[in-house]
Parts: sequence; C-alpha cells; structure tokens
Amino acid sequence: MEAVVGARSILAFALFSLLFLLSRSSAHQLNIVNAERRIDLTSHIVKVFLTLKVENVGTEPASEILLAFPPTQVNHLASVEALATTGKRKKKTYVPLIVTPTELPDGPNGTKYFTISLANPLNSGETTTVEVLYLLTHSLEPFPAEISQSESQLVFYKDGAMILSPYHIKQQTTFIKTPSTRVESFTMVEPTNRAGTELKYGPYEDHASYSFSPIIVHFENNNPFAVVEELVREVEISHWGSIQVREQYRLVHTGARHKGVFSRVEYQARPSHSGVSSFKHLLARLPPRVHSVYYRDEIGNISSSHLRTDSRKSELEIEPRYPLFGGWSATFVIGYGLPLQDFLFESPDGRRYLNFSFGCPLADTVVDKLTIKVVLPEGSKDPSAVVPFSVEQHLETKYSYLDVVGRTVVVLEKKNAIPVHNVPFQVYYTFKPIFMLAEPLMLASVIFLFFMACVAYLHIDLSIRK
Ligand SMILES: *[C@@H]1O[C@H](CO)[C@@H](O)[C@H](O)[C@H]1NC(C)=O
Ligand SMILES: *[C@@H]1O[C@H](CO)[C@@H](O)[C@H](O)[C@H]1NC(C)=O
Ligand SMILES: *[C@@H]1O[C@H](CO)[C@@H](O)[C@H](O)[C@H]1NC(C)=O
Repeated sequence: MEAVVGARSILAFALFSLLFLLSRSSAHQLNIVNAERRIDLTSHIVKVFLTLKVENVGTEPASEILLAFPPTQVNHLASVEALATTGKRKKKTYVPLIVTPTELPDGPNGTKYFTISLANPLNSGETTTVEVLYLLTHSLEPFPAEISQSESQLVFYKDGAMILSPYHIKQQTTFIKTPSTRVESFTMVEPTNRAGTELKYGPYEDHASYSFSPIIVHFENNNPFAVVEELVREVEISHWGSIQVREQYRLVHTGARHKGVFSRVEYQARPSHSGVSSFKHLLARLPPRVHSVYYRDEIGNISSSHLRTDSRKSELEIEPRYPLFGGWSATFVIGYGLPLQDFLFESPDGRRYLNFSFGCPLADTVVDKLTIKVVLPEGSKDPSAVVPFSVEQHLETKYSYLDVVGRTVVVLEKKNAIPVHNVPFQVYYTFKPIFMLAEPLMLASVIFLFFMACVAYLHIDLSIRK
C-alpha cells in the first residue's frame, strides 16, 4: 500500500516538474519584437492598453504568452482581457483569448502572472500580435491628501517606464494620457517627452526580461472618485408578473479629503472654482420599462431624482442631500420594479432562468464589494448561476409573509467590480407551477376559516337560558 502511495507521489512530482519545465522553457523561446503601452489616467479607473508583437524564437510551437505584473498592481487589477489581431488596418479582425491568473514560483520580487492562451500555437519563427486591456482601481493616490474647497485635486500615479515582462523586449514605447495639461512633475527616463496631455516614455531598445525603472507622475485629476464600498442588490422574482429590485449603496468619495468648513454659499456661487473634485449628481442606468422607482436614505424619501425612459434604457439621475467631497460618504437605497417577461425565460431543457445584468447601475463607479442576491419563488429547486467571470457563490433561505418553506436565495459576491462587469448573468432553476397556487390557497383557506368562524359565531347562541 505504502509503495503505491510512494509511486503515486513520485509520479505526481515528476509530472509537476515536467509541466514546470515546459512552462519555463516556453518563457524562454518568446521575444517581444515591438511593444506599445497606452496608460489612460483621465478617470479614477486606470486603463492600460498593450499591443505586443510576439515572435517565437525557439524551436517548439508556443501556445501561451505570459503577462507580468508587480505585486502592488495585482491587488488593484479589476480586469484583464486579451485579443489576437490578424490582418492589416481596415481588415483587422479580433479574436478574444482566454486569460487566466497563473502561479509561477520563481517570479522576481513577487511578480504575479497571467497566461494568455493562444487560439492557434505560434510556430517557430512566426510572429503574432496580441492586444491586452487591463484596468486598475484605487491606483491614483491623492497628494496632498487633504485639500480645501477651492483647491484642485492632485494625484500620484506610480508605474515603470518599461513594461514588466518575462521576455526580452526589442523595442517599446509608453504613452501616458493625463486629464489636463497640469502636470506638476514626472520622472525622466531618457528619452521622455511631454506634449499637451501626453507623456511619452521611450522608445527604449533591447531591454532584458524583468527590466524595471520606477516612475511617478504627479498631475491634476478632478474626476469624481466615486467608490461604492458596499453594494447589495436584491432581485426578487415573483411569478405573479414582476421582479422587484432593491439596491443598498454605501458611496464614498475616495479623492483628497476635504479640509476646513464647507461653504454652501461659495459652492453655489462659483461652481467652476469651488469643489471641482466633488460630485453632486449620480446617474443610474436602469433597464427599460422600470416602474415604481424610489430613492431614499435613512431620513426618508429623497425627492431630487429624475427618471428618463425610452424603449432601450432608463436613466435615473439622483442627487444626494449634500454634495460629496473627498472622504465624505452617503448611504442610500434605490428600488424599482420590472416586468417579469423581460427577464425570465424558459430554457430548452424546461428549466426557468433569470437573465439579468451583473455589476452596478451607477455610471463610472468602482464597487469594492458587490453582493447580488437573487430571491427565487417559493418551491424553486436546483438553482445554478452562470456568470462569465469568477464570483463567490452560496445559497441562503429567506422568509417573507405567507411563506411556508422559505425562498431559496442565490448569493453572488464579487470584489473590485467596475463597469466592464455590467454584463448579463443567468440563474437557472426548476419550478413546479403547482407551487404558484400555494399562496392563494393559503390566503383562501385563511379567509375560509375566518368566514367559518364568523358563521359559527353568529349561529351559536351564547346567551344563558333560564
Ligand atoms: C527587485 O528587488 C531588487 C532588490 O530589492 C531591486 O534592485 C530590483 O530593482 C527589483 N526589481 C523589480 C522588478 O522590482
Ligand atoms: C416614498 O416614495 C415612494 C414612491 O415614490 C412612495 O410610495 C412612498 O409612499 C414614499 N414614502 C414616504 C414616507 O413619503
Ligand atoms: C441575456 O440578455 C442579453 C441582452 O440583455 C442577451 O444578449 C443574451 O443573449 C441573453 N442571454 C440568454 C442566455 O438568454
């Protein structure tokens, strides 16, 4: 018995080492011929576009490309997507590629990796072009950390002048776009140029793998740093014709903290100079055909909201009770009803499913912790959720009035959600229509019993006969 276990572990170890060696060797047979990186710092979500022209200089076909990130960036990485491009200029076609986080034990200084799986293996001597888009949250650090009402907000962005990569890069250039021409300072790594709202680092020739040269850019960014620290969306399905949605927000302005007293007079008199980084309005994009919309906080209903609807979407503009400055927060609830037939369908195998949008309806916000609770009708069985990215899932039970066995709640949780996560997801379940009669039957029997009690009461003569 022990011998078998021993042999097994040796086999597993051999396999593991082999895989490890394979992955190692594939890292050494690729070169990046040309790399261009565009870092967009115009909002509080940092967008980075990478165009990599990769050449296979080894002898074996390669099926994967590794992307490397410094450990400080990985924690703020909200999304990584890759596309393979073929064809030139106008005839370009894009094929989405699968990107998966990968553990490699030998990355220098805690480097973290993502693997891009190529659709077709790259043969020896061939080149391919891959485009990567990754998004970073909480990566602009306000400096000074506190500003007064009349000051502009300045922030730091830290990165490397060269792209961190496990491959040799023959030629590379980085462009950094700032929201305005006000750039206080930036690190020079020759050649470095600045024109208008663009900083150019490079071109740099022939840098070995893992070349790193830190840079800091200090610039003006008055974008509202709207972060929802916690959002709980409850989507309740009732087979009687509607979907009720209730969203609880805890919104924070994560920009430079407001210092001194807030003057509403100054704020209203000089809106272009006072509180330029604060925000007053928020836009929630809701599905078309919403009804019974409400917006309230702990004090009560907030009347300052406007709803515009057309056949494709609804836009709810909400205004918190006070403008939000750096460090300030607001807690509120938005609720609405939706027609069932727009979101509930029957799949070919007879199960029912909800097709609803993931993410946060508020435009341009980062959600640190998003929880979506789908409350299924009473009597639903075998729920399963289909979400196009990884989320934590578990089940709960919820009781509301007239419930006998309780309702199954599918709970989906995601950290660091941004607008790219506003995509449809599905929750499948089985349901026997007989359960729909449970509540009316119960109501009917309650009424019937009450009626019987009345009749009995009227017919029983309780007077005491002599
Ligand atoms: C890794 O750490 C060493 C020493 O701490 C440092 O010299 C080097 O620049 C670092 N490399 C990267 C890629 O951060
Ligand atoms: C709040 O608004 C909703 C919908 O507009 C309404 O149904 C509700 O009665 C209001 N509640 C209060 C306390 O005014
Ligand atoms: C879900 O809805 C979207 C549009 O809102 C649609 O494109 C998609 O095909 C639907 N998915 C399923 C599985 O029905």
